[in-house]
Amino acid sequence: MTRRVLSVASECAPLVKTGGLADVVGALPAAMAPEGWELRTLIPGYPAVMKALGKRAKPVLSDDDLFGGPAWLLSGKLGALDLLVLDAPHLFDRPGNIYLGPDGKDWPDNPERFAALSYMAASIGVDGAGGWVPDLIHGHDWQAGFTPTYLRAAGRRVPVLMTIHNIAFNGPAPPERLFQLRLPRERFTSEGFEFYGIISALKAGLVDADAISTVSPTYARELKTPDYGMGLDGVIRARAADLHGILNGIDEEVWSPATDPLAINYKSPRGKAKAKAALQKRFGLADAPGPLAIVVSRLTDQKGLDLLLDALPAFLDAGGALALLGTGAGELEAGFTAAAQRSDRVGVQIGYDEALSHQMFAGGDAVLVPSRFEPCGLTQMYGLRYGTVPLVARTGGLADTVIDANDAALRAGVATGIVVAPGRVDSLEEGLQRLCALYSDTPGCTRVQRNGMKHPVGWAASARDYAALYAQLTG
Ligand code: ADP
Ligand code: GLC
Repeated sequence: MTRRVLSVASECAPLVKTGGLADVVGALPAAMAPEGWELRTLIPGYPAVMKALGKRAKPVLSDDDLFGGPAWLLSGKLGALDLLVLDAPHLFDRPGNIYLGPDGKDWPDNPERFAALSYMAASIGVDGAGGWVPDLIHGHDWQAGFTPTYLRAAGRRVPVLMTIHNIAFNGPAPPERLFQLRLPRERFTSEGFEFYGIISALKAGLVDADAISTVSPTYARELKTPDYGMGLDGVIRARAADLHGILNGIDEEVWSPATDPLAINYKSPRGKAKAKAALQKRFGLADAPGPLAIVVSRLTDQKGLDLLLDALPAFLDAGGALALLGTGAGELEAGFTAAAQRSDRVGVQIGYDEALSHQMFAGGDAVLVPSRFEPCGLTQMYGLRYGTVPLVARTGGLADTVIDANDAALRAGVATGIVVAPGRVDSLEEGLQRLCALYSDTPGCTRVQRNGMKHPVGWAASARDYAALYAQLTG
């Protein structure tokens, strides 16, 4: 018998994406289908989603006043995705970034926007959507956080699994908004969703969900510590028995060097030469004696790219080259742009470009992910699959997916990349030197690339783990 899960998130690839959350939410339904779980994904009706859905959508629910305006729940299919779309124009019909207004700051009504999403999720949990009633709700990040709280307040029992993709975003709201957010006043306590005097949507999810998961085993351990828990480590420790670390997978059809329609194809590390030449040309890079490293990333403090800016001169001296694609913090954009002006071995593109990202994984010799913390991380896995040696910091999912090319691992023939200490320029510099040394040892480097290309990065194992957890929660 197929069982039903309502997956609730603010992003879903390929429709709307600002980071890895979208990839995971977009991939889960297909990953879980073979395990006997039917997922429908509830997302907000942003303009891009409404446009993609077009006239095919069928209204299944309506509400005259969902947090300040009328709303409709639409049901539709897009490719392999079964979608439930919350069409609430007063909350979601806005141009530009899905979280930020034109001033670059969070929309002031973000708490209401995503509380509305959670409220609708809870309604679907209770009443179903057009006859489809879920056995379980799987909420992702703070945007789904109030779902179990609304269910509890309504006195209804639908099991909820909350997945933390990034604890840095806790979904804050000022306490004056309690009433507007339709939250029960008596739960604004340290046992409830109160967080240092404000309301936190993520905390609501963490205290009220039946189980919690996060996107790698190492991040599950790190979250229990003050260094990584961002003030919520106590809450996580209190729920340690219900916490599960399940590694993300990547979509092996979209990310396949042999068939990628967006890049030059190859089957073995040697075949990368053409893709590398194309990439050098695209970024106007001079030939370098050392490896061409790539970065495809949001430019934020989390990603540790300020450390890379500091380590860059030594890497260039050692013969390396860098191509970076990213957008985010102004000082990082300016720092890398200036580095590109100083050196013909550094190329930078500020912006978001899906096709170019594929060409970079195909053409790069290495991908750099020196994050301070990284719940899972996807780009190191793309690197493995494309024979693009990942150099990563030893944290979160990066530590769980890359095997350092130390002497023991090299001798045992299992090394897949280079692992450095998080948050340290000296360690990153040393890692980059090791990358240069590995690159100059062609047979050794090819072995590491081959190991990476064979390393399993798909969804199969994790889908089984989610299936076991879903089954446990639905009894
Ligand atoms: P996070 O979710 O923290 O940003 P992940 O590594 O999990 O980190 O996922 C990032 C995703 O976003 C990857 O699919 C990556 O390729 C993509 N990405 C990030 N920045 C860009 C960009 N500037 N252009 C294209 N894709 C990007
Ligand atoms: C978050 C994390 C990233 C993770 C992604 C998908 O954005 O920062 O590490 O891979 O979610 O789970």
